[in-house]
Amino acid sequence: LTLTKEDVIHSIVIGAVPEWLGIGLQNRVHRFDSGRHLHLKIFKLFMHQKATTAYANANIALVKYWGKCDHALNIPAVSSLSMTLKDFGTTVSITKASELSVWIDGKICSQEVHHRVNDFLEKTRLIHAFSGTLNIASTSSVPYASGLASSAAFYAALATALNDYCAWGLSPQKLSTLARMGSASAARSIFPGFVGLYGGLHTNHDQAHAFPLKDHPDLDVAMLIAVVNTRPKAISSRNAMNLTQSTSPFFKAFVETHHQDFADAIAAIKTSSFERLGSIMEHSTLKMFATMMTAQPAIFYWQEQTMALINFVYKIRQDLGPIAYFTMDAGPQVKILTKKNHAEAIMSMIEELGLTQHLYRTSIGEGASIVDST
Ligand code: DP6
Repeated sequence: LTLTKEDVIHSIVIGAVPEWLGIGLQNRVHRFDSGRHLHLKIFKLFMHQKATTAYANANIALVKYWGKCDHALNIPAVSSLSMTLKDFGTTVSITKASELSVWIDGKICSQEVHHRVNDFLEKTRLIHAFSGTLNIASTSSVPYASGLASSAAFYAALATALNDYCAWGLSPQKLSTLARMGSASAARSIFPGFVGLYGGLHTNHDQAHAFPLKDHPDLDVAMLIAVVNTRPKAISSRNAMNLTQSTSPFFKAFVETHHQDFADAIAAIKTSSFERLGSIMEHSTLKMFATMMTAQPAIFYWQEQTMALINFVYKIRQDLGPIAYFTMDAGPQVKILTKKNHAEAIMSMIEELGLTQHLYRTSIGEGASIVDST
């Protein structure tokens, strides 16, 4: 068997290395490397050309973004607020290629994703100088398209990698406006901790950026992620929010009542009021789902395990006090905000329920960063 240099790179990037070769290489990579460096090391090994790898954590919205006031620039209809997660994200490596190729967890992406990435790059070119085509390879600890903010981590890492690759020198604020054009939630993943993102009718491209809030140490929160189903969702968050916005009679009320949620959540963080923050998060979540359920046709992401976990959180509050609050996004998974000192006990209780495929514990994490650049 004769492999050319390109064959080996291609095989490794798509994860289709023949078994005899793959076992050896992958084991070595995993023994000596964290995995985040995998793509770049391989590129470096075989090719002497510019390559950049960036990493971004996913984030979970506490005050939800849902709907757009500018579809072309992807400007949200409302301001939102999130928590960047710890060690729960996506690594993206980019290098030059003869045509755009996008790999997700070792597999070439779907046409839909390819089209969306291409669209993002075309919009980026209108604002920042950059020519040529790219090979984009991503690996993720976030199951793809299952309502776990995978697009947020992906576009935040991609924008961060592009900024380095093209030497634009963008500030984090500008970087977040760039990431927003890929996926609005991605704008928030540029920053660490609790993060706000401006949106709304009179917000232009430059104003629709994310910003970090000063964390209050007393909040000391953990986020539990109860995965009840990892199958890709039937309708993407983008399509779901467009359908909701154009057909739900409740969408207007969601937008109109949003300013208060945003302002209250910022105040709750500043005053370290966990109970207040949790209540606002549940309220914003349920208002978002109310608009989905009243879209035509109705959109239902919840499954019976989702409802069981919501009831479980209510029961915890009834029995133990205000120590846990739920949120969900465009998918059936339930995220539970709690204090670090209660996290372990709540995790054991969830495990006993036998409702989840995976249960993760995370907390407040860092913003997007460059892993390597050569
Ligand atoms: C329910 O950011 O995925 O997670 O901008 O169209 O890519 P696009 O949408 P996306 O929507 C996220 C919606 C949400 C709530 C949130 O993260 O604020």
